[in-house]
Amino acid sequence: MTQKKQFFTTPIYYVNAKPHLGHAYTSIAADVATRFKQMDGYETFFLTGTDEHGDKIVQAAQAQETTPKAYADKISKLFQNLLPILNVKNNHFIRTTDPDHITVVKTILSKIYDSGDIYFSSYEGLYCFGCERFYQERELFDGKCPDHGVAPTVIKESNYFFRMSKYQEWLINHIKTNPDFIRPAQYRNELLSFLKEPLEDLCISRPKSRLTWGITLPFDKDYVTYVWFDALVNYVSALGYPDGELFKQFWPTTRHFVAKDIIKPHGIFWPIMLKAAGIPIYDGLNVHGFWNVKGSKMSKSIGNVTDPVKVTNGYGVDSFRYFLMREMVFGLDANFTEETIISRINADLANDLGNLFSRILSMNTRYFKGVVKGADKNIEKEKKLSLSSDASQAIDDFKKAMELCEFNKGIGAIWQFISIMNKYIDSNKPWALAKENANIPILETILYNLIEGLRVVSCLIYPIMPQTSLKMQKTLGMEKENKGFYTLKEVSDWGQIKKGWILPKPDSLFPRIDGDKSKPRETAPQTKPFKPD
Ligand code: ME8
Ligand code: MG
Repeated sequence: MTQKKQFFTTPIYYVNAKPHLGHAYTSIAADVATRFKQMDGYETFFLTGTDEHGDKIVQAAQAQETTPKAYADKISKLFQNLLPILNVKNNHFIRTTDPDHITVVKTILSKIYDSGDIYFSSYEGLYCFGCERFYQERELFDGKCPDHGVAPTVIKESNYFFRMSKYQEWLINHIKTNPDFIRPAQYRNELLSFLKEPLEDLCISRPKSRLTWGITLPFDKDYVTYVWFDALVNYVSALGYPDGELFKQFWPTTRHFVAKDIIKPHGIFWPIMLKAAGIPIYDGLNVHGFWNVKGSKMSKSIGNVTDPVKVTNGYGVDSFRYFLMREMVFGLDANFTEETIISRINADLANDLGNLFSRILSMNTRYFKGVVKGADKNIEKEKKLSLSSDASQAIDDFKKAMELCEFNKGIGAIWQFISIMNKYIDSNKPWALAKENANIPILETILYNLIEGLRVVSCLIYPIMPQTSLKMQKTLGMEKENKGFYTLKEVSDWGQIKKGWILPKPDSLFPRIDGDKSKPRETAPQTKPFKPD
């Protein structure tokens, strides 16, 4: 049987400024989804990259007195270098200045031009340079671009246009007959309601007299293509469209990750471009909300940005990934403050997860010199000490949520199980049982189940916190078999930790963060060996 496939993408980010926390979020979300799919038995391909043509990049390069290409090289490198820092494992990094990409853009433009869906016309419209697209009056907010908050510029010139209007009914029907095409549902509804009004055709070119930093149209050497027609094509050019093996295998399984700022290019322009070019439509779009700072979108144009490298240095990569995935409900906006990240780390990571881990392993050290004793099935049944059905429930809930990119719910399912384990300890009072020899078999059963529970937790946190997952697994003696992660099937198999294994005293996983909670931290708190209290 051939392995199931999954292709995930992030937007390709503009290189007009260095990456901020919003970019880090999308890349981490796609990485978490990819790692989850791998646990679910899929072969995955994960693409990210940079969008390097257009007015914005020319302006940014001019401000630094350099050429667009030299400028793009420099900033693209910053985006590339960020990935390993965030522990994001992409399969490919595409740049729109790559020669292969440029070839594919021209191929697709020619195809659509030949079929008659691109025409030449003069036009006057409202243009937002931030978004690199024209706006219809009804899309503006108080006469301003809803994303950048600036009044668009009136631009009048002759250009090439893509006949999007022709495909409007087709698109409405496609969205309606494919309920998962745009997720979560509020964005699907938003697009459908936008599509109730007539769609305007899309301007796809720029005269070279005004802009040369683009891809020359294959049918008119005096024009370059407009940024969206260039940028969106990256998703197929990166897979080697039209004949590449990756394209054949992965394209039908595509899910794009974007924030709501670019839902129209992805939910309207892109499917119509594909339809017009005779390329199968991608499987779906996962749309998330904005990271805000004091109520405004974090963005380079406002200048209220948080550097993801600083946050990673300050708190550690797993804590940062955890915070981003736990704090934001996928689809809704979230607020970034130092206080919220610190309180998440202290409450969820140091307290709930870290303490549970230390508590169990130090009891096992104290009572059994670290030896795993194994569970007595009769005692387990008689005293109702099983934890395996709670673990199965957690695995099921986790899987259901993660499949829908409901990351905070998926994490919630793990934390629900952590809380069950903490209560299990409190109600069974191992410290009391340890005082009577006759109770030792009960204590052995309890500790075995708790250690198995830790195994399940260590496996489930993998997509979100790969390093912590591995660290826990090393301590639990599982590293020899670890191929980076355990599949969901393997996780479900209760009883993987074997009787007779010897487990060490644990280090603390997440130290508490004390001190000034209002200022960004510069260095991560150090983990210290765990001292039982
Ligand atoms: O739009 N909150 O590039 P871009 C959450 N080049 N996510 C955020 C964010 C925030 N405050 N700010 C940015 C472009 N993002 C085009 C895309 S794709 C074919 C071309 C993330 O640099 C989020 O993923 O403006 C958003 O959609 C993307 O960065 C926009 O990046
Ligand atoms: Mg933007």
